[in-house]
Amino acid sequence: MLKNKKILIGISGGIAAYKIVDVVSRLRQSNAIVKVIMTEHSKNFIHPLTFQTISGNKVANDLFSEITSFYGKVEHISLSDWPDLFLIAPATANIIGKVANGIADDLLSTVIIATKVKTVFAPSMNVKMYENVIVQQNIAKLKELGYFFIRPDKGHLACGYEGLGRLPQPKVIVDYVKVLSNYSYDLTNTKILVTAGATREYWDEVRCITNDSSGKMGYAIAQSAAIRGAKVTLISGQTSLSNPKGVDVKQVISAKEMYDAVMQYNKDSDIIIMTAAVADYKFAEQIKGKMKKKNKISVKLVSTIDTLKKLGSIKRQGQILVGFAAEMEHLKKYAMIKMQEKNLDMIIANDISIAGQDNTSFTIFSKTVKNSFVNIPKFQAANLILDEIKNLNV
Ligand SMILES: Cc1cc2nc3c(=O)[nH]c(=O)nc-3n(C[C@H](O)[C@H](O)[C@H](O)COP(=O)(O)O)c2cc1C
Repeated sequence: MLKNKKILIGISGGIAAYKIVDVVSRLRQSNAIVKVIMTEHSKNFIHPLTFQTISGNKVANDLFSEITSFYGKVEHISLSDWPDLFLIAPATANIIGKVANGIADDLLSTVIIATKVKTVFAPSMNVKMYENVIVQQNIAKLKELGYFFIRPDKGHLACGYEGLGRLPQPKVIVDYVKVLSNYSYDLTNTKILVTAGATREYWDEVRCITNDSSGKMGYAIAQSAAIRGAKVTLISGQTSLSNPKGVDVKQVISAKEMYDAVMQYNKDSDIIIMTAAVADYKFAEQIKGKMKKKNKISVKLVSTIDTLKKLGSIKRQGQILVGFAAEMEHLKKYAMIKMQEKNLDMIIANDISIAGQDNTSFTIFSKTVKNSFVNIPKFQAANLILDEIKNLNV
């Protein structure tokens, strides 16, 4: 998603400036071309040489330097014309305030005022600064004007406070850059329900049946949809993943809990994407405590409730229901049967042999679409799937 994308990063004088080294590194590893502008104050937190080395480009800082660009334009104009996406991270209260009020008194603020490319701010500051009415008014004004924002996280702040103001993790910032350099808020006003992860059916209080699902595909879909402006609820079984940003996450354990949660949210959802690996069987009887070891034991399994089938039977007009089929053979045949049996609008047939990894190979089937993709990152796959869903005519 970032191959040959030109990403300009503005670094202002916040304590989280060091985290952007990892952001730049990740962007480069995704084959983006990165240039960095630093404010004078940001140089107190990290040396420009670090960004010069990691980005592979000279760091720009001085509005009145002698450097003229390749195109013969003055630097702030050539930089403002250069990128596909402009990320300001960390964005201080100061730079946000300056841009909101049209102030262009150094290279970074001047390039932001001069540019017409998509500009994304990642604010990071002390919670009292972030919640200050003036800062909030400046953010609201910039959002209204079409600037994009990555909301800070809540948590421990460098100043010793707890609250909103932490810069999100580098991976999350890179996810935003990936999506926003390719899309705008094209899913605004869409309510999406996603299920992900593995359910667990307990036999006694410590042993269970589960499966190998990592949850990565569903989490990538939930995260991407939220960045693209959708209101997303994620019902998640077990995973080792962090909650996607801006997504309402409900944790469940068993297939029955997954069913109950889906039934609670499905009526209000425009699109339902069921990526969770729900156990097909549960123990007929559950044992209290921990079963003692015996030489031989037999257990009876019974079917769990089929949430996808139920959803297909109660699907309302205009609602889109998407399922996944993880198969080892006869991918197309089984996927088509599942799509018909469960009244799905689309099914994504997965090659189960590479399950759990960061890349995936899959085929998207609907009444009108058959599109195959081989070995692509799950985050990119998530966005391709959302594109196909958006284009569905139901
Ligand atoms: C140790 C230290 C940490 C700071 N951290 C932040 C911060 O995280 N966020 C912020 O908005 N300002 C922070 N500031 C204040 C800014 O550095 C200050 O407002 C400065 O004028 C910002 O200039 P710039 O936006 O041109 O880089 C910090 C200041 C100091 C001394």
